[in-house]
Amino acid sequence: MTSPAPPVAIRGRVLTFLDDPAITGDAASYRYIEDGLLILENGCIREAGEAGALLATLPPNALVHHYPDALVMAGFIDTHIHYPQTQVIASYGAQLLDWLETYTYVEEQKFSAPDHAARIADFFLGELCRNGTTTAAVYCTVHSESVDAFFAESMRRNMRMIAGKVLMDRNAPPGLLDTAAGGYEESQTLIARWHGQGRQRYAVTPRFALTSTQAQLEAAGALLRANPDVYLQTHLSENPREIEAVRKLFPKARSYTDVYDRFGLLGPRSLFGHCIHLEEAERTRLSETESVAVFCPTSNLFIGSGLFDLHQARDRRFPLRLGLATDMGGGTSYSMLRTAAEAYKVGQLRGQRLPALRAFYMLTLGNARALGLEYQIGTLASGSEADVIVLDARATTAMAHRMETVQGNLKDELFVLMTLGDDRAIRATYVAGTPVLGPAFNASG
Ligand code: GUN
Ligand code: ZN
Repeated sequence: MTSPAPPVAIRGRVLTFLDDPAITGDAASYRYIEDGLLILENGCIREAGEAGALLATLPPNALVHHYPDALVMAGFIDTHIHYPQTQVIASYGAQLLDWLETYTYVEEQKFSAPDHAARIADFFLGELCRNGTTTAAVYCTVHSESVDAFFAESMRRNMRMIAGKVLMDRNAPPGLLDTAAGGYEESQTLIARWHGQGRQRYAVTPRFALTSTQAQLEAAGALLRANPDVYLQTHLSENPREIEAVRKLFPKARSYTDVYDRFGLLGPRSLFGHCIHLEEAERTRLSETESVAVFCPTSNLFIGSGLFDLHQARDRRFPLRLGLATDMGGGTSYSMLRTAAEAYKVGQLRGQRLPALRAFYMLTLGNARALGLEYQIGTLASGSEADVIVLDARATTAMAHRMETVQGNLKDELFVLMTLGDDRAIRATYVAGTPVLGPAFNASG
């Protein structure tokens, strides 16, 4: 008989968020334990607290992974990313519609081949783990094969992922088109196969208004009605030429947002990528329906789409639920640290501030709330799933050098991490309690 695996605990400087610092003020928004311990059990956090008190409760055979000086946080969450675009990232010289045609649609056609999709899914999820991202809302391609490959790899890694087959039945190359009825059937089959399997969740994924007919958007609404606990993800109001083209294709709609609204696609489980150029009436509807606006700063800058207005999103009259995301491959990094850095710079260009504490709230609990998953992920509360990362603010020579002048101030340390950090600052990643990156992973291999 094999003896049960010894319990595992993670010791370090534990930081977890309790609420949005922009709402509660800084002090009430987080819990920080200078010498903290997380005791893991069955993929979850059994207990979190002071190491001094908790160490004494561990059995003698417990394994304590100790990261002195490092910050232990909940894994990052990326609320909008495209796994078929790992070889589109860093494509030169185009804005949205040309970028899609010249680069993106070319690569996405390759995902009809299951072995290509499987290879890229493996690369993509590995890259997320290296960057400390443990959950993401992911676009696949129009091919069911791409969804099967993605979820199979995510299941194998036991990651909590949200993903879906892209629906597009017009204005794209023939190799990327489905039909309203076919897209519905395939999505329904994929929902039955994957939604709720282990940690996997499905998102109905009409790409954007330009690539779906009315019949297809109607079918997307029908999928949501038939499967009330799945997500919806799409793009909204990213680029002025896109918005003009939507106006022409849907002349009866009052706005871009209204196109989706007419088909019942707004709601608390609906994620709208970009939302840069919204009119007040659109923001009102998104707010009323508790839809989520997802800010993708590296993408918005790289594709030249515009500057998201973080302050306007918090307008007291109609506040928006918010997500923060990479949008890789329109976005230029897999790293949520790089993403936070660019969000800060977009704020600078608008005369707005994004404090480090709020940025790290957004990467963790904020994005968990955007996905309605705050009781599963995004914090280190006992009972949460043990998706945990370990951050090193001295990971590079430049960071270590800068940290010489940060004397024990947590907010300054976080700002160094988000401004200078990237994958090199992720010292360890745990997925459902299992190390997938860092010394404990290397030792287990
Ligand atoms: N709009 C429609 N498709 C896409 C996409 O793949 N990336 C971005 N950034 N915007 C889109
Ligand atoms: Zn996108």
